[in-house]
Amino acid sequence: MESKVNIAWRKATAIPGFNIPYRPMMAPVVQALVDTRTFGLIMVARLEWEKFQAGSLEEIAKEYSRVGQEGFTQLHLDHVPVIDEDGQKVDFLSIIKRALDCGYDSVMVDGSRLPLKENIWCTKKVVEMAHSIGKPVEAELGAVFGHEPRPLPSYEELFSSGQGFTDPEQAGIFVKETGVDWLSVAIGNIHGAISQASSQQPKLQARLDIEHLKKLQQAAGIPLVLHGGTGIKKEYIQSAIKNGTAKINIATAIRQVYQRWLDTSVSKAQQEVYHTACRILKDELALAGNLDLLREEV
Ligand code: 13P
Repeated sequence: MESKVNIAWRKATAIPGFNIPYRPMMAPVVQALVDTRTFGLIMVARLEWEKFQAGSLEEIAKEYSRVGQEGFTQLHLDHVPVIDEDGQKVDFLSIIKRALDCGYDSVMVDGSRLPLKENIWCTKKVVEMAHSIGKPVEAELGAVFGHEPRPLPSYEELFSSGQGFTDPEQAGIFVKETGVDWLSVAIGNIHGAISQASSQQPKLQARLDIEHLKKLQQAAGIPLVLHGGTGIKKEYIQSAIKNGTAKINIATAIRQVYQRWLDTSVSKAQQEVYHTACRILKDELALAGNLDLLREEV
Protein backbone atom coordinates (compact mmCIF):
# COMPACT_ATOMS: atom_id res chain seq x y z
CA MET A 1 0.00 0.00 0.00
CA GLU A 2 1.25 3.49 -0.85
CA SER A 3 2.50 5.32 2.25
CA LYS A 4 0.92 8.58 3.41
CA VAL A 5 4.24 10.34 2.77
CA ASN A 6 4.17 9.16 -0.85
CA ILE A 7 0.56 10.28 -1.25
CA ALA A 8 1.50 13.66 0.23
CA TRP A 9 4.40 13.91 -2.21
CA ARG A 10 2.17 13.21 -5.23
CA LYS A 11 -0.23 15.87 -4.00
CA ALA A 12 2.53 18.44 -3.34
CA THR A 13 1.79 18.58 0.35
CA ALA A 14 3.67 17.19 3.36
CA ILE A 15 3.29 15.18 6.54
CA PRO A 16 4.56 16.67 9.81
CA GLY A 17 6.54 14.39 12.12
CA PHE A 18 6.84 15.23 15.83
CA ASN A 19 9.61 13.84 18.04
CA ILE A 20 8.71 12.60 21.53
CA PRO A 21 11.68 12.81 23.94
CA TYR A 22 9.35 12.63 27.00
CA ARG A 23 6.40 10.22 26.83
CA PRO A 24 3.81 12.64 28.33
CA MET A 25 4.36 14.84 25.25
CA MET A 26 2.72 12.27 22.99
CA ALA A 27 -0.92 12.71 24.05
CA PRO A 28 -1.05 16.50 23.47
CA VAL A 29 0.71 16.15 20.10
CA VAL A 30 -1.85 13.55 19.00
CA GLN A 31 -4.64 15.81 20.26
CA ALA A 32 -3.26 18.74 18.25
CA LEU A 33 -3.24 16.59 15.10
CA VAL A 34 -6.79 15.40 15.68
CA ASP A 35 -8.14 18.87 16.53
CA THR A 36 -6.55 20.45 13.45
CA ARG A 37 -7.57 17.50 11.21
CA THR A 38 -3.96 16.85 10.29
CA PHE A 39 -2.29 13.54 9.57
CA GLY A 40 1.11 13.31 11.23
CA LEU A 41 3.83 10.99 12.42
CA ILE A 42 4.69 10.37 16.05
CA MET A 43 8.44 9.80 16.12
CA VAL A 44 11.24 8.80 18.43
CA ALA A 45 14.95 8.87 17.64
CA ARG A 46 17.59 6.76 19.40
CA LEU A 47 19.12 9.85 21.04
CA GLU A 48 15.74 10.54 22.68
CA TRP A 49 15.91 7.38 24.75
CA GLU A 50 19.69 7.63 25.24
CA LYS A 51 19.85 11.33 26.20
CA PHE A 52 16.30 12.33 27.12
CA GLN A 53 13.46 10.44 28.81
CA ALA A 54 11.70 8.56 26.00
CA GLY A 55 12.67 5.36 27.86
CA SER A 56 13.00 2.97 24.93
CA LEU A 57 11.45 2.41 21.56
CA GLU A 58 9.21 -0.24 23.17
CA GLU A 59 7.96 2.18 25.82
CA ILE A 60 7.16 4.73 23.13
CA ALA A 61 5.25 2.03 21.20
CA LYS A 62 3.33 1.19 24.37
CA GLU A 63 2.36 4.81 24.93
CA TYR A 64 1.44 5.05 21.26
CA SER A 65 -0.92 2.08 21.56
CA ARG A 66 -2.65 4.04 24.35
CA VAL A 67 -2.89 7.49 22.75
CA GLY A 68 -2.30 7.07 18.99
CA GLN A 69 -5.32 7.79 16.77
CA GLU A 70 -5.83 5.55 13.79
CA GLY A 71 -6.44 7.62 10.68
CA PHE A 72 -4.62 10.65 12.16
CA THR A 73 -1.28 9.24 13.23
CA GLN A 74 1.34 6.61 12.50
CA LEU A 75 4.43 5.64 14.48
CA HIS A 76 7.83 6.30 12.91
CA LEU A 77 11.29 5.39 14.16
CA ASP A 78 13.44 8.48 13.54
CA HIS A 79 17.29 8.55 13.35
CA VAL A 80 18.91 5.26 14.18
CA PRO A 81 22.49 6.19 13.37
CA VAL A 82 25.10 3.72 12.18
CA ILE A 83 27.68 6.00 13.83
CA ASP A 84 26.12 8.25 16.44
CA GLU A 85 26.62 11.95 17.20
CA ASP A 86 29.41 11.04 19.67
CA GLY A 87 31.24 8.90 17.10
CA GLN A 88 30.15 5.55 18.60
CA LYS A 89 29.20 2.56 16.43
CA VAL A 90 25.56 1.56 16.88
CA ASP A 91 23.98 -1.86 16.38
CA PHE A 92 21.47 -0.22 14.07
CA LEU A 93 20.06 -3.40 12.52
CA SER A 94 18.98 -4.93 15.79
CA ILE A 95 17.39 -1.66 16.97
CA ILE A 96 15.45 -1.34 13.72
CA LYS A 97 14.40 -5.00 13.89
CA ARG A 98 13.03 -4.41 17.40
CA ALA A 99 10.99 -1.45 16.11
CA LEU A 100 9.57 -3.44 13.22
CA ASP A 101 8.75 -6.32 15.59
CA CYS A 102 6.78 -4.06 17.88
CA GLY A 103 4.73 -2.44 15.14
CA TYR A 104 6.42 0.76 14.01
CA ASP A 105 4.89 1.82 10.69
CA SER A 106 8.12 3.14 9.16
CA VAL A 107 11.80 3.40 10.14
CA MET A 108 14.86 5.54 9.50
CA VAL A 109 18.44 4.39 9.19
CA ASP A 110 20.99 7.19 9.31
CA GLY A 111 24.26 6.28 7.66
CA SER A 112 25.05 9.89 6.83
CA ARG A 113 28.31 9.86 8.82
CA LEU A 114 29.64 7.08 6.57
CA PRO A 115 31.20 7.27 3.11
CA LEU A 116 28.66 6.83 0.29
CA LYS A 117 29.37 3.15 -0.36
CA GLU A 118 28.98 2.14 3.27
CA ASN A 119 25.85 4.28 3.69
CA ILE A 120 24.41 2.44 0.67
CA TRP A 121 25.34 -0.94 2.16
CA CYS A 122 23.74 -0.24 5.56
CA THR A 123 20.63 1.36 4.07
CA LYS A 124 20.16 -1.59 1.71
CA LYS A 125 20.21 -4.02 4.66
CA VAL A 126 17.44 -2.05 6.37
CA VAL A 127 15.42 -1.74 3.16
CA GLU A 128 15.54 -5.54 2.68
CA MET A 129 14.39 -6.14 6.23
CA ALA A 130 11.58 -3.53 6.28
CA HIS A 131 10.29 -4.12 2.76
CA SER A 132 9.93 -7.85 3.50
CA ILE A 133 7.04 -6.82 5.79
CA GLY A 134 5.84 -3.91 3.68
CA LYS A 135 7.23 -1.02 5.77
CA PRO A 136 8.82 2.09 4.22
CA VAL A 137 12.35 3.24 5.01
CA GLU A 138 13.86 6.72 5.29
CA ALA A 139 17.61 7.27 4.97
CA GLU A 140 19.90 10.30 5.08
CA LEU A 141 22.55 11.52 2.70
CA GLY A 142 24.58 14.64 3.35
CA ALA A 143 25.10 16.15 6.78
CA VAL A 144 22.26 17.77 8.71
CA PHE A 145 24.49 19.18 11.46
CA GLY A 146 23.48 20.23 14.95
CA HIS A 147 23.47 17.10 17.11
CA GLU A 148 27.24 16.80 17.41
CA PRO A 149 28.77 17.97 20.71
CA ARG A 150 31.68 19.75 18.98
CA PRO A 151 31.32 23.42 17.96
CA LEU A 152 30.40 24.06 14.33
CA PRO A 153 31.59 26.78 11.97
CA SER A 154 29.15 29.71 11.92
CA TYR A 155 25.82 29.03 10.23
CA GLU A 156 26.59 31.68 7.59
CA GLU A 157 29.83 29.92 6.77
CA LEU A 158 28.10 26.55 6.53
CA PHE A 159 25.33 27.89 4.34
CA SER A 160 27.45 29.93 1.96
CA SER A 161 30.02 27.15 1.48
CA GLY A 162 27.30 24.48 1.15
CA GLN A 163 29.28 22.33 3.58
CA GLY A 164 27.49 19.04 4.18
CA PHE A 165 24.87 19.70 1.48
CA THR A 166 23.64 16.50 -0.17
CA ASP A 167 25.26 15.96 -3.56
CA PRO A 168 22.62 15.51 -6.32
CA GLU A 169 24.63 12.97 -8.29
CA GLN A 170 25.19 10.88 -5.16
CA ALA A 171 21.49 11.18 -4.32
CA GLY A 172 20.57 9.60 -7.68
CA ILE A 173 23.01 6.73 -7.15
CA PHE A 174 21.93 6.25 -3.53
CA VAL A 175 18.23 5.96 -4.32
CA LYS A 176 18.81 3.61 -7.25
CA GLU A 177 21.11 1.29 -5.34
CA THR A 178 19.26 1.16 -2.03
CA GLY A 179 15.61 1.22 -3.09
CA VAL A 180 14.96 3.54 -0.13
CA ASP A 181 11.50 5.17 0.04
CA TRP A 182 12.17 8.65 1.48
CA LEU A 183 15.42 10.60 1.60
CA SER A 184 16.50 13.13 4.21
CA VAL A 185 18.66 15.79 2.57
CA ALA A 186 20.84 18.67 3.70
CA ILE A 187 20.11 22.02 2.03
CA GLY A 188 20.89 24.49 4.82
CA ASN A 189 18.61 22.87 7.42
CA ILE A 190 20.14 22.15 10.80
CA HIS A 191 19.02 20.21 13.89
CA GLY A 192 18.37 22.01 17.19
CA ALA A 193 21.23 21.51 19.66
CA ILE A 194 20.77 18.79 22.29
CA SER A 195 23.73 19.14 24.65
CA GLN A 196 22.96 20.07 28.29
CA ALA A 197 24.52 23.49 27.83
CA SER A 198 22.70 24.43 24.65
CA SER A 199 19.46 22.48 24.59
CA GLN A 200 17.38 25.43 25.87
CA GLN A 201 18.97 28.06 23.64
CA PRO A 202 16.71 29.52 20.97
CA LYS A 203 17.33 27.73 17.70
CA LEU A 204 18.80 29.82 14.92
CA GLN A 205 16.58 30.59 11.95
CA ALA A 206 17.93 28.35 9.20
CA ARG A 207 17.51 29.07 5.50
CA LEU A 208 17.00 26.55 2.71
CA ASP A 209 18.74 26.48 -0.66
CA ILE A 210 15.69 25.83 -2.82
CA GLU A 211 17.66 25.72 -6.08
CA HIS A 212 19.76 22.93 -4.60
CA LEU A 213 16.61 21.15 -3.43
CA LYS A 214 15.24 21.23 -6.99
CA LYS A 215 18.37 19.46 -8.24
CA LEU A 216 18.05 16.85 -5.50
CA GLN A 217 14.40 16.21 -6.26
CA GLN A 218 15.21 15.81 -9.94
CA ALA A 219 18.01 13.35 -9.19
CA ALA A 220 16.32 11.36 -6.42
CA GLY A 221 12.78 11.15 -7.80
CA ILE A 222 11.33 10.11 -4.41
CA PRO A 223 9.83 12.04 -1.47
CA LEU A 224 12.43 14.15 0.32
CA VAL A 225 12.48 14.77 4.06
CA LEU A 226 13.30 18.01 5.84
CA HIS A 227 14.97 17.47 9.20
CA GLY A 228 15.57 20.38 11.54
CA GLY A 229 12.09 21.75 10.88
CA THR A 230 11.99 24.04 13.94
CA GLY A 231 12.27 27.74 13.21
CA ILE A 232 12.54 27.75 9.42
CA LYS A 233 10.79 30.69 7.77
CA LYS A 234 7.34 29.88 6.36
CA GLU A 235 8.28 30.94 2.81
CA TYR A 236 11.11 28.40 2.73
CA ILE A 237 8.86 25.67 4.09
CA GLN A 238 6.27 26.34 1.40
CA SER A 239 8.86 26.29 -1.42
CA ALA A 240 10.39 23.13 0.01
CA ILE A 241 6.98 21.41 -0.07
CA LYS A 242 6.40 22.56 -3.65
CA ASN A 243 9.74 21.05 -4.60
CA GLY A 244 9.43 17.52 -3.31
CA THR A 245 9.63 17.75 0.48
CA ALA A 246 6.89 15.47 1.78
CA LYS A 247 7.83 15.00 5.44
CA ILE A 248 8.95 17.68 7.90
CA ASN A 249 10.47 16.81 11.28
CA ILE A 250 9.86 18.95 14.36
CA ALA A 251 11.60 18.30 17.67
CA THR A 252 13.17 21.35 19.33
CA ALA A 253 10.09 23.60 19.31
CA ILE A 254 7.92 21.21 21.31
CA ARG A 255 10.72 19.79 23.49
CA GLN A 256 11.87 23.20 24.71
CA VAL A 257 8.35 24.25 25.62
CA TYR A 258 7.76 20.97 27.52
CA GLN A 259 11.04 21.29 29.45
CA ARG A 260 10.37 24.93 30.25
CA TRP A 261 6.99 24.23 31.90
CA LEU A 262 7.83 20.90 33.50
CA ASP A 263 8.81 22.52 36.83
CA THR A 264 5.32 24.04 37.08
CA SER A 265 3.47 20.78 36.37
CA VAL A 266 3.29 17.98 33.82
CA SER A 267 -0.24 18.95 32.84
CA LYS A 268 0.76 22.61 32.25
CA ALA A 269 3.72 21.41 30.18
CA GLN A 270 1.37 19.16 28.18
CA GLN A 271 -1.02 22.06 27.55
CA GLU A 272 1.84 24.19 26.27
CA VAL A 273 2.96 21.36 23.95
CA TYR A 274 -0.60 21.13 22.63
CA HIS A 275 -0.81 24.88 21.87
CA THR A 276 2.66 24.92 20.34
CA ALA A 277 1.91 21.92 18.09
CA CYS A 278 -1.38 23.55 16.96
CA ARG A 279 0.43 26.80 16.17
CA ILE A 280 3.16 25.01 14.22
CA LEU A 281 0.63 23.03 12.20
CA LYS A 282 -1.52 26.05 11.41
CA ASP A 283 0.93 28.93 11.10
CA GLU A 284 4.49 27.72 10.61
CA LEU A 285 3.97 24.67 8.39
CA ALA A 286 0.46 25.55 7.15
CA LEU A 287 -0.31 21.82 7.05
CA ALA A 288 -3.36 21.85 9.30
CA GLY A 289 -6.24 20.10 7.55
CA ASN A 290 -4.06 17.96 5.26
CA LEU A 291 -6.13 14.93 6.27
CA ASP A 292 -8.94 15.52 3.79
CA LEU A 293 -6.53 15.98 0.93
CA LEU A 294 -4.73 12.75 1.79
CA ARG A 295 -7.87 10.78 2.50
CA GLU A 296 -9.31 11.09 -1.03
CA GLU A 297 -6.82 8.46 -2.05
CA VAL A 298 -7.63 5.75 0.47
P1 13P B 1 14.43 20.25 15.09
O1 13P B 1 14.92 19.85 16.42
O2 13P B 1 15.16 21.35 14.49
O3 13P B 1 12.95 20.50 15.11
O4 13P B 1 14.66 18.97 14.13
C1 13P B 1 13.97 17.79 14.35
C2 13P B 1 14.48 16.65 13.55
O5 13P B 1 14.91 16.80 12.44
C3 13P B 1 14.40 15.32 14.17
O6 13P B 1 14.83 14.31 13.33
